[in-house]
Amino acid sequence: MTAEEFVRQLATENDALLTRLAPDDTLKPEVDGALNVPNLLKVALKNEVEATEIAARWLVATSDVDVKLAFARQVGDEARHYRLIGDRLRALGFDPDTVDPLAKGYGPLFMYLDSLTTTVERVAAGQFTREAIAVVKNRQFIEFCERAGDAETATLYRDTIEPDERYHHDLGRRLLLRLATTPDAQDAARRAARQTLALAEELQVKALATAGIHHAPGC
Ligand SMILES: [Fe+2]
Ligand SMILES: [Fe+2]
Repeated sequence: MTAEEFVRQLATENDALLTRLAPDDTLKPEVDGALNVPNLLKVALKNEVEATEIAARWLVATSDVDVKLAFARQVGDEARHYRLIGDRLRALGFDPDTVDPLAKGYGPLFMYLDSLTTTVERVAAGQFTREAIAVVKNRQFIEFCERAGDAETATLYRDTIEPDERYHHDLGRRLLLRLATTPDAQDAARRAARQTLALAEELQVKALATAGIHHAPGC
């Protein structure tokens, strides 16, 4: 199939699986003391620093200037998100400098993304799919903030972070249209997207089971 057909199909498949990441009313855990905006923002810091670093690693690993610049743009955006979230934490009374987001090492999704060796897999997993997940998770987080009465954090996500994540997803779409042109490339891209969604789902189930978290923002 053509790259256009493939990207359309992959988007449809991703969307179908992404609905599983939407919070299930029957699964809604009791919100305990620890499930609050500041603690979820600390989870976000880890996601942002990992998103910054994976894009930076991929930026230096390619000689394709178009791909390089797409990752460079993402590096800058994710690093800015980290700062903005840190500023918001400070405004809420938490010193972000006391948080080492990588104290427990990199997460399983980072490790998987870092293992990918071709550009088509990287943009399918890291941009096209991971950023679509981020859009869904951020929407849930915005609702959580509003219910918690934190309009300012909701606005930060709605007006600044969310549009960037959407743009990263679109960068992935644009690059896939150029790169997913052969059956082999399309198979590799689809596998990488599937694995990314599977890991995101697994991580969500784990977070839900251990900390009652299902609104943690993504990148
Ligand atoms: Fe992003
Ligand atoms: Fe981000």
